Amino acid sequence: MKRTICVACLALSITATFLCSSSTALKEGQTCVADSNCDSGLHCETCMANGNLRPRCTRIQPISPTSQVKGLPFNRYTWLTTHNSFARLGATSATGSIILAPTNQQDSVTSQLNNGVRGFMLDMYDFENDIWLCHSFGGNCYNVTAFQPAINVLKEIQAFLEANPSEIVTIFIEDYVTSPNGLTKLFNAAGLRKYWFPVSRMPKNGGNWPIVHDMVQKNQRLVVFTSKSAKEASEGIAYNWRYVVENQYGNGGMAAGSCPNRAESPTMNTTTRSLVLVNYFPDAPDVTQACKHNSAPLIDMLNTCHDAAGKRWANFIAVDFYKRSDGGGAPAATDVANGHLVCGCGNIALCRPNMTFGVCDLPVPAIPPAAAPKAVRHDSNFAYLGRRPCEQKWFLLGSTLLSLLLSL
Ligand SMILES: *[C@@H]1O[C@H](CO)[C@@H](O)[C@H](O)[C@H]1NC(C)=O
Ligand SMILES: *[C@@H]1O[C@H](CO)[C@@H](O)[C@H](O)[C@H]1NC(C)=O
Ligand SMILES: *[C@@H]1O[C@H](CO)[C@@H](O)[C@H](O)[C@H]1NC(C)=O
Repeated sequence: MKRTICVACLALSITATFLCSSSTALKEGQTCVADSNCDSGLHCETCMANGNLRPRCTRIQPISPTSQVKGLPFNRYTWLTTHNSFARLGATSATGSIILAPTNQQDSVTSQLNNGVRGFMLDMYDFENDIWLCHSFGGNCYNVTAFQPAINVLKEIQAFLEANPSEIVTIFIEDYVTSPNGLTKLFNAAGLRKYWFPVSRMPKNGGNWPIVHDMVQKNQRLVVFTSKSAKEASEGIAYNWRYVVENQYGNGGMAAGSCPNRAESPTMNTTTRSLVLVNYFPDAPDVTQACKHNSAPLIDMLNTCHDAAGKRWANFIAVDFYKRSDGGGAPAATDVANGHLVCGCGNIALCRPNMTFGVCDLPVPAIPPAAAPKAVRHDSNFAYLGRRPCEQKWFLLGSTLLSLLLSL
């Protein structure tokens, strides 16, 4: 008898899976079983940290701001940025060792690029006669904290820039490299020199950056910053905090209502720096809490940092586990910041070419879930059953299974 039930179970789940995957792709917020059920740009997840146990299709991609409005200066856009982009959950070290360092992201840099991530924070160290992406104990890289040679990831970026001739990528190097011209050799070897945006074209006194169209035309589509000031003169690699103001990273940057600068950065309101970077992630990366952090509290912090930065919106939003959210997450936050920067309308979806800044009289698109958590929670009952073919099938199959069990 038990055997019969299990066969029935199996048959039903296979049927359900088949029906779900063959039905039309689910939209943001709809109940799902697997990533493949969801529309492109979405994946299927829960947010336990917010008590949200229903698996829903959630955003993992921001809207490309340059696809909405081209031709603004680089500093008039916001770019989704990953903290420790290389520290992938479940990775083993290319040395063959297990990794004993924390991890901050769920997917490869190529996957991040395809999802619209355009800023990458990479920690680089001299290691094994090469330069590696690594975490440190006391400033040194070890097998158990070494992820892989940096050139591997830089080649992924090279391939993306080659295949996507109008995209611009920014790299923030946490730089521990002391080998002579180490970074120069590395970027040359990765084939990235031809995309280099020269330091000489970076505004030194708070002016606008070149317009993105111009950066694309000149093929100067790779912006690189280092944390070592001397390398600007010696290797032509821009010293980060000469161009960027940045808030405190880690727990110190997560206290609601305050946006202090990190020690190396000028104060947030220093307008001689044209770019604003907002970090929002804890000291210890936390894959379960990330969905909560990346949602409403991130939007709140963007507002706080906007005020602290002299009414300037973030150009870079740096998070851990960028795909995790309780709805729209960091991609939706990027859309909000882009809306403010590009057209003054609070969401990039509202921006149109040649519109008057701040005149937002177009139809309002779907409200980003991060800004409307109540609506999202409300959605968790069966009130909208009719609009959800997949969920409805599950429900019917569940009832069938239940009656089958009861009849036995
Ligand atoms: C670290 O990894 C290298 C291989 O990349 C290996 O030759 C070396 O023995 C390892 N060191 C330790 C201490 O395990
Ligand atoms: C800039 O911010 C600092 C603190 O971060 C503050 O002390 C200073 O008064 C601010 N300056 C202006 C002009 O608002
Ligand atoms: C925006 O304005 C520019 C310059 O006036 C013009 O060339 C372009 O066609 C306009 N674009 C749209 C979409 O109206």
